[in-house]
Amino acid sequence: MENAALAAQFPIEQEVKRRRTFAIISHPDAGKTTLTEKLLMYGGAIRTAGTVKAKKSQQFATSDWMEVEKQRGISVASSVMQFEHEGCVINLLDTPGHKDFSEDTYRVLTAVDAALMVIDAAKGVEAQTIKLLEVCRQRKTPIITFINKMDREVREPLDVIDEIEQILGIACAPITWPVGMGKEFAGVFDLRRHHMLKFTPGDNTAHQAVEVLESVDDPYLTKNFPIAHATFKEELEIVQEVADPFNQEAFLAGDLSPVFFGSAINNFGVRDILEALTQWAPSPRPREAKETTVYPDGAQFSGIVFKIQANMNPQHRDRIAFLRICSGVYRQGLKVNHARSAKPIRLDHAITFMAQERAHLTTAYAGDIIGIPNHGKLRVGDVLSEGELLAMVGIPHFSPEIFKKARLNDPLRSKQLNKALKELGEEGTIQVFDPLEKTGMIMGAVGQLQFETVAHRLLTEYNIDATFESVSVHKALWVSSEDIHQLKRFTQASAERLAYDAAGALAFMPPTRAALDITIERWPELTFHTTREIS
Ligand code: G4P
Repeated sequence: MENAALAAQFPIEQEVKRRRTFAIISHPDAGKTTLTEKLLMYGGAIRTAGTVKAKKSQQFATSDWMEVEKQRGISVASSVMQFEHEGCVINLLDTPGHKDFSEDTYRVLTAVDAALMVIDAAKGVEAQTIKLLEVCRQRKTPIITFINKMDREVREPLDVIDEIEQILGIACAPITWPVGMGKEFAGVFDLRRHHMLKFTPGDNTAHQAVEVLESVDDPYLTKNFPIAHATFKEELEIVQEVADPFNQEAFLAGDLSPVFFGSAINNFGVRDILEALTQWAPSPRPREAKETTVYPDGAQFSGIVFKIQANMNPQHRDRIAFLRICSGVYRQGLKVNHARSAKPIRLDHAITFMAQERAHLTTAYAGDIIGIPNHGKLRVGDVLSEGELLAMVGIPHFSPEIFKKARLNDPLRSKQLNKALKELGEEGTIQVFDPLEKTGMIMGAVGQLQFETVAHRLLTEYNIDATFESVSVHKALWVSSEDIHQLKRFTQASAERLAYDAAGALAFMPPTRAALDITIERWPELTFHTTREIS
């Protein structure tokens, strides 16, 4: 698909209106990769699904990019894919499902207007989904739910719905309801249109008509699936009586989620999700900057960097800043102001992402994600805007939980190590803390795997061979106070436990929980934050 063809067709208001930017989230193994591929197939962005089988036989799912990911078979990098469906331009952001990369995922969630949550019907709500939903709920992100793997023996659908409502604290409005499961999976009943969509296994191609049965008592069901049909009739009564009806306002407020049942691997239910996305999910919404409200169809361009990634493609040894356009239009050669440095930048070579390929981009609108190649100038949280310098909040840094120091096998390379760690810290691969007493950089991570990524990248990109050792840090908490004198006193008194992070913010790193509690008690004028919003 031509990117140019996606753009410049309508005035900006219309272009913004037809955009849908959403993330796909799930606990690992729920079927996120499979579903992503099916969505891309519908959008014509790929012709055949690589599917998970290909992942195992050394070809990789189109949304998997990095070398580490290939080795481990888990999503490390978040990727972005754009395709068109029913007149809408859809930007789909993949998120790493593995818990060790949740920091990256949280940031991706700040760049979207909606999220598609995939639940494994056999497992229900899992740990990673709970965490991700917390972030969505904080931001009031509208959620569409897909309950996957109905072709397997799974849990009772009413149980799964109940669990989502109880554990995730979001009301569910079933839009389809399954008839049977596993070998007895006959299809889903569309509660809006009052007809059955018949399940056909093994469908690996898009655009095939799904067979519709007008009556829920069609002989096909009563004869072939008598038990499943009877159970379904009972459930239907309950659902119609107790389930919340779909309500657009509650959905947009993030309080209610439309729920679909299906089987991603069999391409069943995917079309319903696309319909929900195009019809119900919001187009880009206004964003708050410190100075003003930024309207997506405003004439002036603005955007925020939510992710930096190096080496997405070994042939292009560069960094890409992923920027969400918040307002206006990107055109090649656009001159913008970089808020952090207060310097102008010319954007000449922005790229867009089409599954595995990156393509040069001439025009993009609010809601789109563009990639800006750079050599370290751009950081997570940076804002680029035409005209006024803008400061936008909303990209959180989370307090890391595991801390390590790198020990060089060749001590002469310590300068290179510091530079490399600084760069990786700015990218957000890991958090880096530079102690006030210059005792050597400390790395902080949410998950162990982040260290392995750093070790791998140090070796392959910077030619630095290092081993990591633990340090006695319990947590890193950002410190602030309205009382500058107290802050100064604290800085002097606790210098050996203080460090600056990649953005120069002061962090307190106590060795134990008890030390933290004592400090909080002793310094009531100070606030210790577990997250830092990048602005
Ligand atoms: P993830 O990205 O969320 O981690 O999940 P992914 O799509 O990789 O799917 C995880 C596993 O679930 C895969 O099985 C995949 O084939 C399977 N799967 C996805 N959707 C469905 C579905 O609708 N029904 C069934 N029965 N399985 C589904 P795997 O064992 O890892 O690979 P494979 O041997 O099946 O290829």
